[in-house]
Amino acid sequence: MSLVFAHRGYSAKFPENTMISFQQAEKVCADGIELDIQMTKDGELVIIHDEKVDRTTNGSGYVKDYLYKDIRTLDAASKYNGNGQKMQIPSLHEFFEWMKQTNIICNIEFKNNKLPYKEMEEKTIELIRQYGLETQIIFSSFNHYSMVLCNQIDPTIETALLFSDGIYRPWMYAKAIKANGIHPNQRLVNKEFIRNSESFGIKVRAYTVNDPKKMKLFASSGISALITDDPSLAKSILNDF
Ligand code: G3P
Ligand code: CA
Repeated sequence: MSLVFAHRGYSAKFPENTMISFQQAEKVCADGIELDIQMTKDGELVIIHDEKVDRTTNGSGYVKDYLYKDIRTLDAASKYNGNGQKMQIPSLHEFFEWMKQTNIICNIEFKNNKLPYKEMEEKTIELIRQYGLETQIIFSSFNHYSMVLCNQIDPTIETALLFSDGIYRPWMYAKAIKANGIHPNQRLVNKEFIRNSESFGIKVRAYTVNDPKKMKLFASSGISALITDDPSLAKSILNDF
């Protein structure tokens, strides 16, 4: 049975990477939540997709140049065409406080492929250990060195390689560098791709699968998970399998 991971939370209907988006994803029975982390100037892990706050908030500039107390004054829903309700950029700490009351899986994407963040992996793993959430977490990144490092620090936490361009037999590459899964862009994925990887023991979780036809095709091919903006739609489609 394929799982459904809510991409940046229930981002088809709520402001991406906000607590409401995560809570609503859980409400519609998503199996997992995918979220993105960056780090503030004073080393706080915060949940936001871009290196800069401009696209999703009423602020401007790089996350890395903000103190945590200042980034929390921004409105993460201001660019969203919603009901005008303000929302803070969540910290990973805040997310874990909520997550520990659920059984949900969390795919943490380290946004460390464009900017280096000092000890991001160590800090994240330390926080996960504090909450005892090791078995509910899957790391991913376009920075594959970062996944190797996570595996060295704590091999009990699953890792996955993100990619958006073709890699020759990515399941073999993943196994060679001790990753547990691959998270390819959905346009690189077909039946054969899924079967090859899954039978080789490397889990496939494709992003971002919003097309019902692809949801059906991938699920019928035995994909481990779909990462989608609309977990409610994906759950209703997958329930037919
Ligand atoms: O983790 C899958 C997907 O989220 C990667 O791309 O740009 O949406 O973070 P992006
Ligand atoms: Ca992401």
